[in-house]
Amino acid sequence: MIDRLINWIDERYQLREFVKPYLDKPVSPHEMSFKFCWGGITFLLIIVQVITGVFLAYYYRPNVAEAYQSIRFITDEVYLGWLVRGIHHHSSSLLVITVFVHMLIVFFRGAYKNPRELNWVSGALLFFLVMAFAFSGYLLIWDQLGYWATRVGTGIAGEVPLVGEYILLFIQGGYGVKQPTLSRFYATHILVLPAILGLILALHFAMVRRRGISEPL
Ligand code: HEM
Repeated sequence: MIDRLINWIDERYQLREFVKPYLDKPVSPHEMSFKFCWGGITFLLIIVQVITGVFLAYYYRPNVAEAYQSIRFITDEVYLGWLVRGIHHHSSSLLVITVFVHMLIVFFRGAYKNPRELNWVSGALLFFLVMAFAFSGYLLIWDQLGYWATRVGTGIAGEVPLVGEYILLFIQGGYGVKQPTLSRFYATHILVLPAILGLILALHFAMVRRRGISEPL
């Protein structure tokens, strides 16, 4: 039944032909090692973040009067809300760790060298995106910790010579961390960053597939 459905769709869109070169790759024995799992684990955590993030967005209210209360509501009242929020919270920390470990392994194996320089460049962009996710998500709780962490972060950005003030105003949406800041952080966290991340991830994976995983040292 499922096979027939897939064949029916494939006859019309010929997707198999398109994805075959990407999915149909033999895995060589040296790739079946734990050190090659970190990119995949990071990707798995990103999927977890997307799924739990959508559920949180159903209840979260991105305005300064209600944001904190809506987080309390998710944690205390919504069915399994505490679990979904907890997974989103802890996965974000794990994500920062796994992406860093992945980067270190790639670095120490020298896997960034020719012909994989652009894998490294796209990876570096992914690293900054993961950090931007963590930074923008922190404010959304609208508690003291998130508020002051944001003040420190935007304050540092504001110290950049010449253009610091413009950067600060752009990030905060004005002077001070207020409603415009929360709106901007929310839009960035759920719209801008996921869109850019999706695009760069696709590039990163396409490059990994094209060139294959680097040989053992
Ligand atoms: C969202 C974050 C990221 C995801 C989901 C991701 C995913 C992956 C996956 C699945 C692979 C293939 C298997 C492996 O080597 O683990 C890979 C390879 C690679 N990644 Fe990433 N990556 C991310 C971030 C980064 C970062 C931060 C860097 C470096 C700055 C990087 C550089 C590379 C390079 C150079 C390869 C090729 C490794 C080789 O051929 O041995 N990636 N990535």
